[in-house]
Amino acid sequence: MAEKDRRKPTTAPMVVARKGGAKLKMITAYDAPTARIADRAGADIILVGDSLANVVLGYDDTLAVSVDVMVHHTAAVARTDPTALIVGDMPWLSYHSTQEATVANAGRLVRDGGAGAVKLEGGRKRVPMISAVLDAEIPVMGHLGLTPQSVHAMGGYRVQGKEAQAAYELISDAHALEDSGVFSIVLEGVPDVVAEIVTNELSIPTIGIGAGVNCDGQVLVFHDVTGLGAGEYIPKFVRQYAHLADDAVTAVSAFFDDVESGAFPSDAETYHMSPESEEILRNLSSPSDHFLADEAMER
Ligand code: KIV
Repeated sequence: MAEKDRRKPTTAPMVVARKGGAKLKMITAYDAPTARIADRAGADIILVGDSLANVVLGYDDTLAVSVDVMVHHTAAVARTDPTALIVGDMPWLSYHSTQEATVANAGRLVRDGGAGAVKLEGGRKRVPMISAVLDAEIPVMGHLGLTPQSVHAMGGYRVQGKEAQAAYELISDAHALEDSGVFSIVLEGVPDVVAEIVTNELSIPTIGIGAGVNCDGQVLVFHDVTGLGAGEYIPKFVRQYAHLADDAVTAVSAFFDDVESGAFPSDAETYHMSPESEEILRNLSSPSDHFLADEAMER
């Protein structure tokens, strides 16, 4: 029986039920190959993060991606039919104007992208938008702390909640999100004690990234975990388990060496005619001979 057949598709209520239980395993994926790898490795949640902008599309920040782009990549992940819950990230400005626009954008990630939930960044001030999306029966994941879409407002990518008052505000935001009905909260770039307090005080799971070990789960970016992000800056909280970019350079260089030396392709990597067809073909005069003969006749 295939691994996939043994696992039940993960839903938002199943994620809530994991509170205080087995740690939740979440990773980003942006296309079919990364989604298949994440799912085969046993991800509970695949986040089609707007980190797509930096990690895959080469932008400096996450502000560049639109709903269309997020739908495009979410749909690629969904076509692999993972057992993991697919969470589609709502990009910057897709949930900042009206509730109608917010619901329409969240709906596109679900209807056109195949997501089973959406994620959006921010605390108390997002509650009206979260309520509208929940009213449309779309599960919402919150995201607090170092929220990359606020890069300009934060004055850069800085750990949040380091001072007691700021930490208290963040914890209050977490309560407000829980009260609004989100099914889980990503805590990014916060001191471990802040994440620990939020995790202990909330009855929904927290999923940490740069938030210490006391969260209900952990998330990292696929390209950071696997070392696929060639030459990218690696934050302190990342643990790299492979160096796939280096392995890929080695593989592609070996291919080029074999092209140069003529060692590629081998006979086994080549299509052949039957000996009979080959003999007939070789006995035929070449098309250029025909052309020369035609020209001579015309003269
Ligand atoms: O976009 C993303 O990858 C994220 C994670 C870092 C949580 O939001």
